Amino acid sequence: MTETIHRAHNFNAGPAGLPLEVMQQAQAELLDYKGTGMSVVEMSHRSKEFEGMITEAEADIRELLNIPASYKVTFMQGGASLQFSMIPMNFRAPGASADYIVTGAWSKKALGEAEKLGAARVAASTKAGNFDRVPDSLDLDPKAAYLYYCSNETIHGVEFFQEPEAPAGVPLVCDASSDFMSRPLDISKYAYLYAGAQKNVGPAGVVIGILREDMLERVPENMPVMLDYKVQATEKSLYNTPPSFSIYMVGLVMKWIKKNGGLAGIEARNKAKADLLYSAIDASGGFYKGHAQPESRSRMNVTFRLPSEELEAQFVSEAKKLDMIGLKGHRSVGGLRASIYNAVELSDIEFLVQFMKEFQTRNG
Ligand SMILES: Cc1ncc(COP(=O)(O)O)c(C=O)c1O
Repeated sequence: MTETIHRAHNFNAGPAGLPLEVMQQAQAELLDYKGTGMSVVEMSHRSKEFEGMITEAEADIRELLNIPASYKVTFMQGGASLQFSMIPMNFRAPGASADYIVTGAWSKKALGEAEKLGAARVAASTKAGNFDRVPDSLDLDPKAAYLYYCSNETIHGVEFFQEPEAPAGVPLVCDASSDFMSRPLDISKYAYLYAGAQKNVGPAGVVIGILREDMLERVPENMPVMLDYKVQATEKSLYNTPPSFSIYMVGLVMKWIKKNGGLAGIEARNKAKADLLYSAIDASGGFYKGHAQPESRSRMNVTFRLPSEELEAQFVSEAKKLDMIGLKGHRSVGGLRASIYNAVELSDIEFLVQFMKEFQTRNG
């Protein structure tokens, strides 16, 4: 008899669900990785096995995103939040200013860190509309050290489907933490793009950075070593002990993406999931109200409200009893949020949509 594994309908915002196949492979290899007699967590990061793993993970990331040879790929620690500080420290010369597009909580935090360390300008902010869209226009500084934006605001559920255009010579920097590897990207448009792994591509503990080599010329001397992109790049993410298990898991997820049609296949899957959920919201006659404006709706984090906070709490609590986890919106925004990253299946969305209809019938 095959044992049924209990897997929740996981709508967590991050860390989030990973593909079952990937989890099972990690489980199968946990005690004895490929005949080594040890787990990846017990292995030297200088061993040839680990070197093979990190090299292959990088090669798969490069292949999936079609990354040009002039870019470095790094695996770093400190979460996406440490990047908020590293970016201005590495890329903004003393006295220079950087431009920030503020579309939600995460770009706002990044701006806050940049302001602590030097000059930063707001090139656009959608705060007045409670971060419900990407901006229509930008006020750009042609001399900015870089233009920064967050491609998907996880808390507000707002996503860019077109890169903002930076003035000629101004490098584009992107926090892609919550939509990384959810669709194809033209990396050549970016000077630096980074993502915390814990949503679409792996467990917490590792941040993937994709950096155009010429940006390394900007890195000042005497940077604290762990904050220095040059060190991370030249030491191939092995200056110190890297988050080896997280990197191994990222490698497994890359293989899963390749098996599932690459990024074009994943995008089609994600689009179908998001379309189904937003259609259900739109068909509810106003009982469910999406937070983001239709053209800015995130395919990863679907934020919506119910007619009252009481109903929202009841929705979350009843959904939880049906094993739908993580639907409560972030405390700063309220309402509901379904995070539907790569590993969430269409069947999970169908289950949620069915429940939404029943809930409305009972409470509408
Ligand atoms: C878009 C985005 N940027 C940055 C972060 C911060 O990531 P970390 O917790 O890894 O520092 C998050 C976390 O959810 C996020 O969603």
